[in-house]
Amino acid sequence: MAERDWWRDAVIYQVYVRSFADGNGDGIGDLIGARERLPYLKDLGVDAVWLTPFFASPMADFGYDVADYRDVDPIFGQLSDAKALIDEAHGLGLRVIVDVVPNHTSDQHPWFLENKRDRYIFRDEPNDWESIFGGSAWTQVEDGQWYLHLFAKEQPDLNWEHPAVREEFDAILRFWLDLGVDGFRIDVAHGMVKPRDLPDIGHPDQVRMIGTEVVPYFDQDGVHDIHRHWRKILDSYPGERIGVAEAWAPTPERLARYVRPDELHQAFNFHFLSAPWDAAKLKSVITESLATAESVGAPSTWVLSNHDVRRHVTRYGSLDRARAATLLMLALPGSAYLYNGEELGLPEVLDLPEEVKQDPQRLRDPDSGRDGCRVPLPWTRDLGWRDPWLPIPASWDGLSVEAQIGDETSTLELYRRALKIRRTFDGPLEWHDSPEGTLVFRRGDLVCTVNLTDRPIDFGVDGELLISSGPLGAAWWSGKVA
Ligand code: BGC
Repeated sequence: MAERDWWRDAVIYQVYVRSFADGNGDGIGDLIGARERLPYLKDLGVDAVWLTPFFASPMADFGYDVADYRDVDPIFGQLSDAKALIDEAHGLGLRVIVDVVPNHTSDQHPWFLENKRDRYIFRDEPNDWESIFGGSAWTQVEDGQWYLHLFAKEQPDLNWEHPAVREEFDAILRFWLDLGVDGFRIDVAHGMVKPRDLPDIGHPDQVRMIGTEVVPYFDQDGVHDIHRHWRKILDSYPGERIGVAEAWAPTPERLARYVRPDELHQAFNFHFLSAPWDAAKLKSVITESLATAESVGAPSTWVLSNHDVRRHVTRYGSLDRARAATLLMLALPGSAYLYNGEELGLPEVLDLPEEVKQDPQRLRDPDSGRDGCRVPLPWTRDLGWRDPWLPIPASWDGLSVEAQIGDETSTLELYRRALKIRRTFDGPLEWHDSPEGTLVFRRGDLVCTVNLTDRPIDFGVDGELLISSGPLGAAWWSGKVA
């Protein structure tokens, strides 16, 4: 598995374990289910799998509140299932990345239960910071002190100035590296370090989950020492083990600091994900992302959907656009992240009944809930789940893997073809002039044309048509790669 620089152009598939595949029939996805579907992912054509947290957790934030970083939560299986999944993935030539959650633990973590306050951020008085999930970022305990939680109150922030915290995470990384994982997606990688005096922000606006605000609790210079140190741990293992920052930095320049040569390998490009369906804006974010990543010798990454945002079919307003956006993304140089179900063209579920919604972020405002992108995947025409933890729309029978596989017009087959074609080209991106509302670029022999207007455009490109996101000649689509 030691092919050098494998991550620079890897396609990494995000498995939201709870919703991906259910191995034991209890309505909640698990590691056995994910393992059974590895051949599906191999056939899809991805290089690696990122598994969202499956560690022991009370699930106040669906596993992003970890009570034991070295064990698997019983609803997801056992440690032996994680090991079996990693080994089997390797046998298929797939790499495995796991989530590590270092900004906070669960309030059921032994340190918090044992009242080890110096490992968390306790103060006699709260400041004016607000939780990303809504409400104050401080909760008072019985004796009157307050603890900081940038997310839910069940997720107390750790004090990264305490040596025991740093040592514990070194050991956690080694534990999973020893088990064979190929890397980590680092949750809130920009958040671990806070200024000692915890200054007030001075304005009541709430910070959004994926935002660009400059705030004193995110993107502090001190986080980079941690990432540098972690890079040394990653590099001390054979094969290339990688660190991927989930960092929300205010600008692409600030984001590039996370992927300097002695820091992490990749950082999610939320600037791309946040761009609207607009040719000029997409072009500018792509150009800037490539330039800033290149300035530190890192590959750019691309992502359109994940478990925290509206699925891109819904965000862009149609499946046609989403398919075009996907072909655009997969034609770009660098590494791409896919979110489970996007290969089926799943939309956001916007009409989940109130009583089934579970995301703690709904506290902030009911519309910001992330349940709608976490609805379990339909595997078969009868959906394939007994009593799924969130209801699957009956209309998804036609979007199921069973319904789409082998149908050349389906989104699943589009992804499979695109991922195959992606392996056949390389090289830097070179923009070509093109009519307003369109994008045209070349990478070596490949030309990618994207028509974002509502009228057909003749791009006048010669050559063999490799793939298109819709039938040529249709009203407004494109995504022709020739
Ligand atoms: C994860 C979220 C989670 C939060 C707190 C994020 O960035 O992706 O799902 O709620 O971190 O851990």
